[in-house]
Parts: sequence; structure tokens; C-alpha cells
Amino acid sequence: MDLMHRALLTALGALSVLYALVKFSLGYWKRRGILHEKPKFLWGNIKGVVGGKRHVQDALRDIYVGYKGRAPFVGFYACLKPFILVLDLKLVHQIIFTDAGHFTSRGLYSNSAGEPLSANLLQLDGHKWRSLHAKSAEVFTPTNMQKLLPRLAQISARIHSDLGKVGLQTRNISELVGAYNADVMASMAFGLTDQDHQEFSRWTSSYWAGFKLWNAYLALEFPLIARLLQYKSYAEPAAAYFQKVALSQLQEQRRRDRQPLQTFLQLYSNADQPLGDVEIAAQAFGFLLAGLGPLNAILGFCLYELARQPELQDRTRLEIRKTLEQHGGQMTPEFLRELRFTKQVLNETLRLHTPHPFLLRRATKEFELPGSVFVIARGNSVLIPTAAIHRDPEIYPDPERFDPNRFEEEAMRSRPPASFLPFGDGLRGCIAARFAEQQLLVGLVALLREHRYAPCAETTIPMEYDNRRLLLMPKSDIKLSVERMD
Ligand code: HEM
Repeated sequence: MDLMHRALLTALGALSVLYALVKFSLGYWKRRGILHEKPKFLWGNIKGVVGGKRHVQDALRDIYVGYKGRAPFVGFYACLKPFILVLDLKLVHQIIFTDAGHFTSRGLYSNSAGEPLSANLLQLDGHKWRSLHAKSAEVFTPTNMQKLLPRLAQISARIHSDLGKVGLQTRNISELVGAYNADVMASMAFGLTDQDHQEFSRWTSSYWAGFKLWNAYLALEFPLIARLLQYKSYAEPAAAYFQKVALSQLQEQRRRDRQPLQTFLQLYSNADQPLGDVEIAAQAFGFLLAGLGPLNAILGFCLYELARQPELQDRTRLEIRKTLEQHGGQMTPEFLRELRFTKQVLNETLRLHTPHPFLLRRATKEFELPGSVFVIARGNSVLIPTAAIHRDPEIYPDPERFDPNRFEEEAMRSRPPASFLPFGDGLRGCIAARFAEQQLLVGLVALLREHRYAPCAETTIPMEYDNRRLLLMPKSDIKLSVERMD
């Protein structure tokens, strides 16, 4: 047999093995006898998502709508990986709250030895996450979050100076809110002073440089091999910058010690069970990773919705102005508590444009659904499709309409538990939800107090999302016309 034939036979053999492996992987739910969406070869049930033709939230919503009411959950495949998609709010509640002990993991890739910044609260699982979570809970207390408020208010003044005193102008809202949120991260998560913020902002857009979806997928599937091969999730120059900044700020803070508590670094190193410096640096990076995108998205989407409904915008502004006057112009915790309608506006934005379209859990123990034949096996990955739940017409009638009245107290009470989860909840819920809400409110106060927003020729209506991101982000920067008011 000549060389050519041998090469051809080897290639054919390899292809047959690959085909058999793919078919075997895509047969998981059938073998388990579980209701599932029929998968397509290689893509499973997310065809179009990998190539950026549709957003992951739409793919999940199609499955949710197609199977809701038929079973508590349905199986599907993201490429070759089997997932459970939860369809029933009772089961959501069990996974997040009552039986959360079975679902304490996410199953994300992390390698604390080779990539110390990946040892953050978001990515870790198991006993490392447990111990870190206990220490972080000491940091994110309501009292500590209130201590950070004066600094937040100070940073929000930048929005005013950025908007300037010019009458009518077209502004890039994504850039404007992005600068505010990056300033907050630079200052509070990394302890940087104002003059270092520009460099910090530049690096925030580069830690995903060189990101390859297939590599990340393989690292997720085969973490041991990925660790052996020293796979890195983040671009090394950016990771080195963030680690260096956090470590040097920790040292700097110790030198000038007795300042009021204004950063997470200080709160972590002053806690009863302080973390080591490298661990604290990883948390600062984790906050950037988990927080910056959704904060930017929500403030942008919120102004976009208010620009399109001027009467809602006026009502929000009136509440802000009146309440601020009652509090002598000071942004105190009481002032924020009284911004009831503004909070409804934020919640409605979180519902309609849920930044994390799903919550992810991995079963750490087998879970038998009480009173049924259904079993979630140990190791199964579970998705809770929050964006689909937030747009379910049986829970939120006329779901595409932006209507903050949905978040009036009585309306909220009338909805079933676990039907509004923009920050997740329970053991693995967003540890910084309270802080994030505070940051969003302070940002909105600064944005709306003296400026009016309206759509302009450069505003994309209806909103288009960036299909290449798992997080819900606008496809292009949000631009609006901004007018300074008397
Ligand atoms: C609008 C802003 C934000 C939204 C919508 C948001 C949403 C979320 C969601 C959905 C999760 C997963 C929850 C779950 O699985 O149940 C999460 C986790 C997390 N978030 Fe946020 N987040 C926001 C801002 C922030 C900020 C500002 C920080 C840090 C300062 C932060 C830090 C974290 C961390 C560390 C986790 C992982 C917690 C753990 O696994 O124990 N988030 N967030």
C-alpha cells in the first residue's frame, strides 16, 4: 500500500472515531431516558450561537418556551456538552435555596497555581470557594457597603464634568457610563487614585484579548489537562497589570494605614480572617470580571429606555430632585432608600435586559426531585434561564414593554418566588448585589439630575444585542441626545 492510501485510511479511521465520539456525547440524554431537545451534529442545540448569528438568551428561550409545562426540566446540548435547562420555578427555588447544598459548584475553569487571578469567588468551587465565601461575606455587609457610599458619590461627580455645560449634544452613553463604572472599580476594587484611572480603563478592555471559545470549552471539559498544559483564561499582560496594581496598592495602603475604609482591598485585609495578598488581588480581579460588564450594560439600557419614554424619565428625575432636596443635597443611605420609583426603573431594566441571561450550577450530589421520578445526576450542569423567565408572558404580561410599575410592592408580591433573579440568589448569588444596586442608583442620580436624554439619529431602535457575548450587551455603543436643563 502506498503512502497516500495509508494516509487516507488513517484519516478515515480518525474521522470515524471522532464521529462515534460525537454521536456518543450527543446520546447522553437519550441513554438516560430524559426529555431533551434533539441535537444537531457538533452544534447540539446552540447552532447559530457559536457563529454569532443569534444570542444565547434567544437559544435558551426557544427551548424554555418549547418545553415549559411538559416536565420540571429538559436536557439539551451546548455543542457536545449536555446541560439541564430548568423549566419550573419550584425547581429553580429548590436549586437556589432549599436544596442549594446539592448545587454549590459552577464548574468553571480555574487554576490557582498557574493563573493566580483565576482563584476568585466567581470561578472557584469546592472547599476553596466555601472558605473564600465565608471571608467575603464579612466584607460585603450592609454596614461596610454604606461606608463606601461617600466615595461612590464623589466618583459620580465625574459624570457631571464629563457631560459638561454644553446645551444640546449627541453623546456616546456607553462610553460615559463605562468611564464612571471603571472609575469605581479602579478606586474601590483596586484602591487606585484618580490619576491612575486612565491606564486602568485601557487595560479593562484587553484581558479577553486572544480569547478562543474552543480553547475555553476544552478547558471546561478537561480541566486537568488544561492545568497540565498551563491553559490561561486571560491575556497575560493584562493579568500581570491587574495583579501588580492590586499588590502594590495593598502595600501602599498599609503604609498610609489609618484612612477611612473606602476600598474592598482595605475591607479584605482588615477582616477578622484576612486573606493573603495574592488572594485579595484575585478577588479584585474577580470583581472586575463579574461586575464591570453588567454595570455598564444596565446603566446604558436604563437611559435608553428612559430616553424613549420621556414621561417616565421626568417622573424619575422629579423623585431624584425632590428626595435630594429633602436630604440637603447629600447622597446618604436614607436618601437612596427613598428612591422608590428610581429603583423600580432599575429593576425593570434588569428584567427586560437581564445582563446574565442564565445562572449556572453543577450538581455536587445526586438530586431526586421530591415526589417525582426525575433525577439530576451528580456532575450534571444545570442552567436556570433567567432571561427567559423574565420575559415569560404568564409571569410578566406583555413582557417586551418597559413598565416600572411591575415592581410596585403589590405587583411584586403577586408573582411567584424565584421569578426575578437578575443577581441570582442563595449561596452562589451575586455577593455584591447590594453594592451594585448602590452604584447604579448613585450613577443614575448623577446622570438624570440635570440632564435630559432623547433618542437621536444615531440611536439604534429597536435595541440590538451583541451575539458574540454571553453577557447581554448592546451590539454597538448606545448614543443619545443629551440636553442640560436649568
Ligand atoms: C448590575 C450589576 C451586576 C449584576 C446584574 C450581577 C449579576 C450576577 C449574577 C447573575 C451572578 C451569578 C449568581 C448566581 O449564580 O446565582 C453574580 C455573581 C457574582 N457577582 Fe455579580 N452582578 C453585578 C455586579 C457585581 C459587582 C459590582 C461585583 C463586585 C464588586 C460582583 C461580584 C460578583 C461575584 C464575586 C460573583 C460570584 C459569587 C459566588 O460565586 O460566590 N457583581 N453576579
